[in-house]
Amino acid sequence: MSASTQPPPPGATRRANRGAFSGRTAFIFAAIGSAVGLGNIWRFPAVAYENGGGAFILPYLVALLTAGIPLLFLDYAIGHRWRGSAPASWRRFRRWTEFIGWWQVLICVIIASYYALILAWALNYTVFSVDVRWGDDPAGFFGSFTRSLEGADATVAFDYVPAVLITCVLVWLAVIAVMVFGVQKGIAGSAMVFIPLLVIMFIILVARALMLPGALGGLDAFFRPNWEALLSPPVWVAAYGQIFFSLSVAFGIMLTYASYLKKNTDLTGSGLVVGFANSGFEILAGIGVFSALGFMAQAQGVALDEVVESGIGLAFIAFPAIIGEAPGGAVIGVLFFGSLVLAGFTSLISIVEVIIAAIQDKFGMGRIAATLAVTVPLAVFSTIIFPTTMGMAVLDVFDNWVNQYGIVAAALVSTVVVAYLVRGLPTLRDHLNHRGSFKAGGEWTVSIAVIAPLVLGVTLVLTTVELIGGEGTYSDYPGWFNLVFGWIMAIGLVVVAIALSLLPWPSRSNLERPDSDGDEIAPPARPGVGLSGPHASTPHALRPSR
Ligand code: ALA
Repeated sequence: MSASTQPPPPGATRRANRGAFSGRTAFIFAAIGSAVGLGNIWRFPAVAYENGGGAFILPYLVALLTAGIPLLFLDYAIGHRWRGSAPASWRRFRRWTEFIGWWQVLICVIIASYYALILAWALNYTVFSVDVRWGDDPAGFFGSFTRSLEGADATVAFDYVPAVLITCVLVWLAVIAVMVFGVQKGIAGSAMVFIPLLVIMFIILVARALMLPGALGGLDAFFRPNWEALLSPPVWVAAYGQIFFSLSVAFGIMLTYASYLKKNTDLTGSGLVVGFANSGFEILAGIGVFSALGFMAQAQGVALDEVVESGIGLAFIAFPAIIGEAPGGAVIGVLFFGSLVLAGFTSLISIVEVIIAAIQDKFGMGRIAATLAVTVPLAVFSTIIFPTTMGMAVLDVFDNWVNQYGIVAAALVSTVVVAYLVRGLPTLRDHLNHRGSFKAGGEWTVSIAVIAPLVLGVTLVLTTVELIGGEGTYSDYPGWFNLVFGWIMAIGLVVVAIALSLLPWPSRSNLERPDSDGDEIAPPARPGVGLSGPHASTPHALRPSR
């Protein structure tokens, strides 16, 4: 029975309607939609190739099992047990941890603002693929289409690019159109259409790429194991970094989605489905991309490492070149860029939902009002900055710092806070195991309390040493540019998050209102009441019923 048709328990009044998933299937589609994104298609193949090829599978699987899935379970447990957006859930967990929730919301503001620009480009390129509009100069075409400048040049010119501006507005209109329909109809409904479509399109794309001459050479390079790479710490750090971004853990998304689930949901079983589906798609993307790169290397008569690219370079320069050369290139182009649009769109809406849910909870707003209150200013911010000649440089710096000092640092703080300061792992494990078909045991606790903080801490130190101690500045931008859009932005997020956590919750907020399952939310846990044992200090209505 769907949450919306379930009668409220006797005595409970439905004052707040946060929305809910109709069931586990809807949730799994939405969660896979969030996880499968640009990270799978354009990040994973190059990261795997550069970090040991076939041998990378080992650190990748270890990272998935020791950090990705455990952190996914942690997100699910916090959101599902405390039944709210990121700030509301953290606050109910322990009042002073509310800032972590706002930090996650602000990270999502930054990521959503530039993710939309990449979707706008991909949307344009889906259309351009039909007549292979870039001809035989994809790099020159991308430069003149985006009019993006590089290095120091990008920081002195600020001019709008109308073609990108129009598509950026279209992307935001599509986001608004989906989000006003709410959690089930909007988020789950679109994922249940887009994810099967994406899988079909991607399988056709991979099958087509496998048939290209030279594809086997590409696959051989991709899967050939370099076992020595396993002795290199940066390879392991790369594996963990890939898993965190790819699974959408630690930035509030999975926490928010889990808060829309009914109480008696199998969280761990669902998490395993999402985790392995995401990795399966990632490996499929690696096969497709390297088959195509193998074709390109053979066609140009060069070594494969000369054509391997990652990120924007792979999608908007290397792939258009392949499309221009390959027989039936237009079809490959429409499938590739169409896949990027679908995968990216279902991830973008999950990122935006973190912000909408927070505002809805904080101000007790209805769905449509909260959606407009969030998406309109966010769309304005995104379209003022990004469809410009400076857009790609800001995207580059935002992306680097928000990942290294946003997601990684927030994940580190979350694990340390939960494991050592609040000592909430036994409670959360008990919650996961209440209905979970897979039992989280001592290895889950070790992953969250030891492995994840260790790897995240090492990652943070290594990146800082590289950024500060490196020659020159990041991507050749002037120091002031990295300072403003990198350091000040990343540190600013923490400062603003702390400030937001100090603001009182209005009486009309959802903080103590009935949750999606109709139960009353009790006041936040009082400081000084230990959370070290199962259910300690847990408001009665939030305890799993036995
Ligand atoms: N998990 C999403 C991606 O891979 C954010 O792009």
